[in-house]
Amino acid sequence: MEFPGIDGFLGTRASLMLDVVFVAMFAVIPVMGFSIAAARYKHRWDLHKKIQLTLATILLLAVVAFEVDMQFLTEWELRAEPSPFFTIEQKWSSPVGVSLLIHLFFAVPTAFIWIYVITGAIKHFPKPPTPAAYSARHKLWGRIAAGEMTMTAVTGWVFYYLAFVA
Ligand code: HEM
Repeated sequence: MEFPGIDGFLGTRASLMLDVVFVAMFAVIPVMGFSIAAARYKHRWDLHKKIQLTLATILLLAVVAFEVDMQFLTEWELRAEPSPFFTIEQKWSSPVGVSLLIHLFFAVPTAFIWIYVITGAIKHFPKPPTPAAYSARHKLWGRIAAGEMTMTAVTGWVFYYLAFVA
């Protein structure tokens, strides 16, 4: 089938940037887990900081490229139309539309929580980073940030499957 925009590489109906983000999330989740384990069990806070800042930079670039693709190049609705779970007429009440709303419910706050966790950590931990009075707040919000990112990935994969694979 022919769609406007650049086709992806996974052999589904998704566009290139959808495939890039789909695959990137498979890498981000385990790397984030490794980074949190490095802080928790190995006390490699410097490594934890470097990995989290690298992940945040990669995710920011991916989100910008993704938004440019979605807003200007790809009409995801056309690519989702052949799915049995989608019709343009019932865009937001179809399973695809509902799964996208659930995904956005996680994805949008995740971006703000990550910014809060990173700016807070840089401001309140010493350089190089070590546990400090700020630790309790960072651990709480760091766990929320990690959980939200995981849910963003899982709900994104569900949307991808319903819209572009089924
Ligand atoms: C979004 C980015 C980040 C997330 C999701 C995150 C997440 C976490 C989590 C969940 C823990 C607790 C690990 C445990 O259970 O013991 C932790 C610990 C820690 N993080 Fe982060 N972190 C992030 C960014 C940073 C940055 C940028 C710094 C440094 C500037 C940093 C410094 C630390 C330190 C020093 C600890 C140890 C706290 C302690 O055990 O007292 N983190 N982080």
